[in-house]
Amino acid sequence: MKTLIVYYSRTGNTQAVAELIQTQVGGDLVALETQEKRPTNYRAEVDQNEREQNQSILPTLKTEILDFNQYDRIFIGAPTWNMALPQAVLTFLTTYDFTGKTIVPFNTHGGYGAGQIVAQIQSAVGDAVVLPILSVAGGKESSGQLLAIEGPTKAAVAKEVTNWLQKIG
Ligand SMILES: Cc1cc2nc3c(=O)[nH]c(=O)nc-3n(C[C@H](O)[C@H](O)[C@H](O)COP(=O)(O)O)c2cc1C
Repeated sequence: MKTLIVYYSRTGNTQAVAELIQTQVGGDLVALETQEKRPTNYRAEVDQNEREQNQSILPTLKTEILDFNQYDRIFIGAPTWNMALPQAVLTFLTTYDFTGKTIVPFNTHGGYGAGQIVAQIQSAVGDAVVLPILSVAGGKESSGQLLAIEGPTKAAVAKEVTNWLQKIG
């Protein structure tokens, strides 16, 4: 069984969870990055993301997954953006063929949960099996808190990851 862990992260929270998953299950870890630089300003990113979601714009990815077909199990990590996936993650989901693969979603959010993320992933991957999501509280950039999954919080999230991995098998 070959594992890929793909994630999208602006302020490091989803990346921290991705790394905790890799520590526990192994596999290849890949960060999704867009061809065009994203706004560094929070408000500008909120506005650009909302525009992309409303107009179904799929930003081009700089990241390429080499030999995607070798992977059986694919962890997909994303922050909640406007109660949905950042559009760059949808670009990833529409670029590759997930037929026959097992998808394992994970998420960090600013207090409001994963929103439409599971539904969006399931509809993008067709018949591929999507296992139960791990969704944990991350940063609250709107109130100036960027990376929250560090120190004792990171240790607590590591335990959540362990429990979740056991539950989903
Ligand atoms: C553009 C944008 C939109 C966001 N929208 C939401 C939201 O709708 N609900 C929520 O709970 N958090 C929202 N957040 C907060 C992030 O989901 C949260 O900070 C997450 O942990 C960020 O992950 P990252 O550090 O991997 O980028 C938003 C953050 C950004 C930058």
